[in-house]
Amino acid sequence: MQILNSIPELHLARRLMTGSVGLVPTMGYLHAGHMSLVDYARRENDLVIATIFVNPTQFSENEDLTTYPTDLPRDFSMLESAGVDFVFVPTPEMMYPRSFQTYVTVEQVSQGLEGAQRNGHFRGVTTVVAKLFNLTQPNIAYFGQKDAQQVVVIRRMVEDLNFPLKIAVCPIVREPDGLALSSRNIYLNPEERSAAVVLYNTIQTVNSHYFAGERHPNRLLEIANDVIKAEPLAQMSYASLSDPITLYDLDMPTEDPMLFSLAVQIGKPRLLDNCILPLSLNTRDGVTAVLGVDEKAR
Ligand code: PAF
Repeated sequence: MQILNSIPELHLARRLMTGSVGLVPTMGYLHAGHMSLVDYARRENDLVIATIFVNPTQFSENEDLTTYPTDLPRDFSMLESAGVDFVFVPTPEMMYPRSFQTYVTVEQVSQGLEGAQRNGHFRGVTTVVAKLFNLTQPNIAYFGQKDAQQVVVIRRMVEDLNFPLKIAVCPIVREPDGLALSSRNIYLNPEERSAAVVLYNTIQTVNSHYFAGERHPNRLLEIANDVIKAEPLAQMSYASLSDPITLYDLDMPTEDPMLFSLAVQIGKPRLLDNCILPLSLNTRDGVTAVLGVDEKAR
């Protein structure tokens, strides 16, 4: 595995690459969720580029940029064992030199859910992802379903700005008790860690009502709220049932796929989770086909 520490090094390496390239962009402190993206990329491309960059522009003022966990030696050894060919590790100064003044903003789909809670977050994400796409020129870029809105926003940007690549979405990887993997889970103390299973329990409960025939978004949200309220350490940030393309909140029953997403504060971290209803769509092909893909607009 070649470690590329600068943009000129990446440019040179990219020029010499032949065959298809899969990109796995990360902020490091890798876990099995990231590694599943790498595994898909490895299987589906001739070469894999991973990037590790804690992107300052996607953190809002009250967020954990300075304390965001990092462990580069561990990340490198995980990526190397997984067969990654190149890892690009720029510094903030390389990505955002003093003269920097160009940002990418995706409008409507960036505004609700996480966008409403985290000022400027998606502008930071789309700006850095656009730069990483330009720098690495992948055929397929891999993102996790865990950040479902991020996928929808990035897909909108790819479509609107004609990036010549495909987005692959990979299902959420969970701990044995159902907690979705996240680098921020390390902030949970043991008591909070036990409480954090409430997010998965909420998904399971909502799904069992959906499976039993409940289709009214408001009723499903009431059920979700009741589960969260019963956990004293959990504070609901939001729960939403939305259209998986437009992210508009649903207020009428529908047989079309719905995106159920929730954000819950437990101790320091705000934890995110989501699923597509029906649950049978939460596979690599299912989430890739449903999240953010506007077939009607093609
Ligand atoms: O999902 C992430 O880790 C980040 O938002 C990303 C896509 C690497 C951009 O910084």
